[in-house]
Amino acid sequence: MLLSILLINLLFVIARAGVPYLTEQPSYVPPCRIKSPDFVKCSTRSAQKLFSEISAKGGLPGLDSIPPIDPLRVNKIRVTQGGDNALNIKLDLSKVLASGFGKIKVIESRVSSKDYSWVTKLSVPKMTIVGDYVLKGRILLIPLNGKGKMTFQIDNPKIEMHTKTRLYEKGGFTFYNVTDGDCDYTIKKLSVNFENLFNGNKELEDSTNAFFNQNWQILNDSLKPVLAQTIADIFLGYLQSIFHAIPANFFVTDIPTPKELYGE
Ligand SMILES: *[C@@H]1O[C@H](CO)[C@@H](O)[C@H](O)[C@H]1NC(C)=O
Ligand SMILES: *[C@@H]1O[C@H](CO)[C@@H](O)[C@H](O)[C@H]1NC(C)=O
Repeated sequence: MLLSILLINLLFVIARAGVPYLTEQPSYVPPCRIKSPDFVKCSTRSAQKLFSEISAKGGLPGLDSIPPIDPLRVNKIRVTQGGDNALNIKLDLSKVLASGFGKIKVIESRVSSKDYSWVTKLSVPKMTIVGDYVLKGRILLIPLNGKGKMTFQIDNPKIEMHTKTRLYEKGGFTFYNVTDGDCDYTIKKLSVNFENLFNGNKELEDSTNAFFNQNWQILNDSLKPVLAQTIADIFLGYLQSIFHAIPANFFVTDIPTPKELYGE
């Protein structure tokens, strides 16, 4: 008993000392040269192979810091939007589970040779986000104040992620620190369900959810900032875990060192 507690503590210290990372080019990341004319094509293929490998293996062999991608877990997402009349909400999501990313199709992966930021276009056939919500505010002019379980179902989202990075050095490799991201998206259809919207008034809850779903196009427009931030937050944490564990050199063989890019 004591020994196992000691062991667990020891493992924890080792884990905290640093995320394990790859030191050899993995077969699932075809290397690309940013100076080559077909870089975007190569980089798109490379990103697709990486996501396919993660989906097939439920993570990446030897890299426990990268969790399975489908479903993807996010502890907390907080969105505050105000201003106009139709939408004025504060939404806190916790214990979020996002499903569907196992079927990611990478449409395009661009990397800027100026600052090594990325533009990534992805699509998924279907994305489901479930979680615990706390909601205060107005959606489509309806005043809301509730907490409970929430489901978003999004058909065929096409996502364009804009990701900022900062290069850093580790063990003689260049790594991406994924520092910030936002996204644009289009979708085919949105359905939502908020449980316990009105403190257990089931009739009002059902009619409000039905109203949202009948007016899903308007809802889609007014929830744009909420969805965009939710999707960006879900991806950002995941990309961070990948790129602290796989050197950027394996994706872009001619990437500069941080010193070369930023100076001293
Ligand atoms: C990555 O960036 C964040 C802030 O954006 C910073 O706190 C963190 O220390 C950086 N990590 C590395 C390894 O450079
Ligand atoms: C849903 O909202 C997004 C973001 O505003 C928009 O690009 C998309 O066209 C909308 N989809 C539909 C079907 O209205």
